[in-house]
Parts: sequence; structure tokens; C-alpha cells
Amino acid sequence: MRIAVIPGDGIGQEVVAAALPALDLVAEIFDLDATVEQFDWGADRWLRTGVGLPEGAVAQLRAEFDAVLLGALGDPRIPDMAHGRDILLGLRRGLDLCVNHRPLPLATGTIELFRENTQGLYAGVGGTVGPPDRPTVAIDECVYTRDTVQRFLRYSLGRIRDAGQRRVTLVHKANAVPHTGRLWRELYAAELAAFPELDGTDEYVDAFCYHLVRDPGRYQGVVAPNLFGDIISDIGAALLGGLGLAASASICPQARLALFEPVHGSAPDIAGTGVANPYATVLCLALMLDHLGHRAPADALRAALAAARAEGGTPDVGGHDTTSGFMTRVLAALRHQHHRARPREV
Ligand code: NAD
Ligand code: IPM
Ligand code: MN
Repeated sequence: MRIAVIPGDGIGQEVVAAALPALDLVAEIFDLDATVEQFDWGADRWLRTGVGLPEGAVAQLRAEFDAVLLGALGDPRIPDMAHGRDILLGLRRGLDLCVNHRPLPLATGTIELFRENTQGLYAGVGGTVGPPDRPTVAIDECVYTRDTVQRFLRYSLGRIRDAGQRRVTLVHKANAVPHTGRLWRELYAAELAAFPELDGTDEYVDAFCYHLVRDPGRYQGVVAPNLFGDIISDIGAALLGGLGLAASASICPQARLALFEPVHGSAPDIAGTGVANPYATVLCLALMLDHLGHRAPADALRAALAAARAEGGTPDVGGHDTTSGFMTRVLAALRHQHHRARPREV
């Protein structure tokens, strides 16, 4: 496995540095060959050189790597997040990662949340009218293509079925946003026809958010356009117990190369204090191993996270651990499982 690592900014760097030893250890235990190459794309480089996603980066990732791990982007010195859009949205679009899987393993059951990841309000279509510094009109268009919505739905519904879920909900706002809303509903109905195992329904995003908070057990599979999926995933993270626990996989249905990143951002409010929660980043490694076909080491990482969390946690989840203190627990749990799994010969 050749893994490109983009630590990014703020706590992105901290959680990635903390989590990578778990990859090394699990690779050693399961005899996997994992090589890691780091890329310094982020705020410092942007401010120094004006370059966000370097020329040729997408082609290089495609040619040389099996997966990408990204920490987070975002820096108070770049308030409009121009570098973040260039790098993060550039990678999502450039690698055609139109599916973003953000699983929510809740006590009431796991919600398999799938977010479209490249279009909608993130299509980058828009502009202003009038003076650039004081526009009279500002426009960000919501753009969806039949091809992308179809590929997204087909792949996501397949994954939801394969996860053993029966119910699936399309989240939309077709009452107020009719053109893209109609396209989504049409394609949803058409794609669902190929999945007789799935019981499909749809809800307006406002009502969906209301029910999600009050009764998360109501949902199993969820498919959502880009911005709705973004917002839903932070609500979901709150239900999980915090943003530090939520992981994601950005996937292209037509390619193996995928990108894994925690749902959270660079958290400037706690960056540098050593207490960022690395849980979501370790969980990203598990999603990555799953994606690359290494189920047992992925399960071992998840079990180690659960064991570590039962003993402690960082302050965001009510514990007193530092980032490295929590990782000490994760690594110990991994070693412990390993010794139990393979008792020494006598
Ligand atoms: P955020 O997710 O960075 O932080 C929200 C809150 O959650 C903060 O109080 C933060 O301390 C806490 N938090 C987040 N992750 C945590 C963790 N691992 N451990 C402990 N606490 C954690 O959201 P924000 O403050 O709105 O955004 C900060 C910057 O990050 C902005 O520049 C934003 O654009 C960017 N951002 C980037 C990504 C990404 O790279 N994928 C995602 C979201 C936000
Ligand atoms: C996320 C983030 C990004 C998004 C931002 C930083 C562009 O919030 O990954 O959830 O909206 O997709
Ligand atoms: Mn988000």
C-alpha cells in the first residue's frame, strides 16, 4: 500500500502525526507493506509560495498511490479558506471522488451516510455583479449533472445494501430548490428500482434534521447532496459524541484511489495545545484498510479504538487524555489484542 499523507493545517498535523504509528503497528502485526509519503500542501506553503494544490498533483496521486490520508485544512491567516478550496475541493474534483461516506455508528444503530462530494453548491460556478469589493449581487450556483448524481446514487445504494441496511432516505429540498431537487428524485426512483432489497423514502432536509436529532434510530442508509450532507455529518458527529470521532472516505465509484479524512476541521481554537482527538483519524485508517481489502487489520484498529475509549479519551469527549496519551492507549490495545490472538507456542 502506497499512502499519500497530507497533514494540512492546525490539528490536522497533530492528529495525523499521532495516528500514523497505529498504521505502522497494525501493518507490522498483520504483515502488510505500507509506505507513507508526506506532502506539505497547506496554509504555510500557500502563504510562502501562493501554491495550494501543486501542478501535476492529481496525476501524481493517481499514478503513484493507493490512498490519500488528509488531516484538515484551515488557517486563521487565510480567512476565506482559498487554499483549502484549492487543495481539498481540488482533490475531490480532480480525483472524481463524487461519493463521501461518513458512517455514524450510533447506539441506536449505524447510519450509513453518503454525501455527494463534487457538485451542487460546491461546483464552483458563480460570481459577482458590481464592484468586486462591494458587489451588488453575489451568486453561487447549485449545479448537478445527471451522470454524477447517477454514479453517486448507484454506488451509495449498493454500499447501503451491502452493509445490510434495509431502509434508505434521500434528503433534499425539492420544494424550494426544484430543478436539482427534481433531478435527484427522478434518478433516486430509477436507481432504487435495481435494489428490491431496499425500502426507499425521501425527506426534506429541514424535517430530516429535526427527526435525526430526536430519533436517530429512524434512519439506516442516507443519501444527500453535497451541502446538506456536510451539515448532516456535523449533526451526526454531535450525536456520536463529538466531531473528534467522525471519519470519512471520499471515493470514486470508477477507481480504486480514495481519500480519507476526519469530518472535523483544523480546530484553531485548540491547535497547539496537544489535546486534539486523534480518534477520527485512526478510524480513517480503518476505513482505508477496509477500502483496500484488508478487513482484519481494519477491525483490529476499530477494536483498539473502542478499548482505548472505554478507558479514557481527550477532553472533547469528556476525558483527560492528551492526543499522545490517547494514542498510547490505542497502541497498547492493539498490542494486547495481538498477543491474545496469537498465543505464544509452549
Ligand atoms: P472544526 O471542525 O475545526 O472545529 C469545530 C469545533 O470542534 C471546535 O471547537 C474544535 O475545537 C472542535 N474539534 C474539531 N475537531 C476536534 C478534534 N479532533 N478534537 C477535539 N476537538 C475538535 O470547525 P471550524 O472551527 O468551523 O473550522 C476551523 C477551520 O477548519 C476552518 O478554516 C474551516 O474552513 C476548516 N475546516 C476544514 C475541514 C477539512 O479540512 N475537511 C473541515 C471542516 C472545517
Ligand atoms: C468537510 C468540510 C469542507 C466541506 C470544507 C472545509 C470545504 O466542512 O469536509 O466537511 O464543506 O466539505
Ligand atoms: Mn464539514
